[in-house]
Amino acid sequence: MKICVIKGDGIGHEVVPVAVRVLRQVIPELEVVSAEAGWDRFHDSGDALPDETVDIAREAQAVLFGACSSPSYPVAGYSSPIVKLRKLMQTYANLRPTRFLPVPTAKQGVDLVVVRENTEDLYIGDEKTADAGDTGTATKRITRQASERIAHTAFRLARGEGRRRVTIVHKGNVLPQTDGLFRRVAYEVSKAYPEIETDELLVDTAAYWMVKEPTRFDVILTPNLYGDILSDMAAAWGGGLGLAPALNMGDDVAIAEPVHGSAPDIAGEGIANPTAVILSAAMLVRHHWNMPEIADRIDAAVNAALRLGDYTADILGADGMSTADFADLICEKLS
Ligand code: NAI
Ligand code: MG
Repeated sequence: MKICVIKGDGIGHEVVPVAVRVLRQVIPELEVVSAEAGWDRFHDSGDALPDETVDIAREAQAVLFGACSSPSYPVAGYSSPIVKLRKLMQTYANLRPTRFLPVPTAKQGVDLVVVRENTEDLYIGDEKTADAGDTGTATKRITRQASERIAHTAFRLARGEGRRRVTIVHKGNVLPQTDGLFRRVAYEVSKAYPEIETDELLVDTAAYWMVKEPTRFDVILTPNLYGDILSDMAAAWGGGLGLAPALNMGDDVAIAEPVHGSAPDIAGEGIANPTAVILSAAMLVRHHWNMPEIADRIDAAVNAALRLGDYTADILGADGMSTADFADLICEKLS
């Protein structure tokens, strides 16, 4: 069993090694191969995602990814390496669960999964500029094939986890040719899963309910961009971004990657919460390697460690606990 580990930038260097330590403890035979990607790597070599990294990732078929910094302005030759890697590895589904965790900022009763389409929508990054930079246009692409694939993923997940309902989230009223297609295909696919209830919400209304009553959600099935935004909102109910895991999945391939980014505001301080990346690794163990007992052990150790601390969610440092202390605590709970 092999995993390609990419720390990336910022707090990736602090939290990813903790998840690797956890994985090594529960799967001693695991082979870990490190690879580079990110903004720092781009500055060093002009290449944010070297071919060598892609080769290692493809060979392992399993990746643990920290986060990469990406500027919000155009930089010649740079595009987000994780968006590229998801595409190259054909991880077409991004699963982003939010469950209550024992920290003061989490909301009791929340247990939802955002199933985000991971290969198209505005994320294809097909942008044009005209009028000497005063007009920008981006292409939003939705296809039947990708919509079908992600809809089956959502309904299979609901079935597999004994969940009741899939909510299709879209903006088909304004975008009938793209989101409308996504919605139509999702309803077609739902017919194959008669035991699961299917409903729908416009994305703005979904955002309202995510703030007002997150416990109403079970599985959310949605295109790429809405999934990105709604899953960050949901993360607040799970205790915060430092606790929110995610898994990119394809057929026989997976990239575990927390919802959060490189957190430059706290990078280097040793206080980043490794929970999100550890829980992401546990998702890979569960869904990709099919080792649910081991995934349960990791989840239980994280819960036990969180229960012991009086943390203010994301930032462990508030009560004097560092990333390293928390890592020790989790590994102690695992043994
Ligand atoms: P961010 O998720 O990095 O940080 C948002 C806030 O949450 C910050 O206050 C940060 O300190 C806190 N936070 C995040 N993770 C935490 C953790 N594990 N423990 C404690 N606190 C944590 O989002 P932001 O600031 O918008 O983006 C920073 C950089 O990360 C940008 O360059 C962005 O492009 C990149 N990014 C990369 C992602 C990826 O590689 N998958 C995803 C999101 C952002
Ligand atoms: Mg995001």
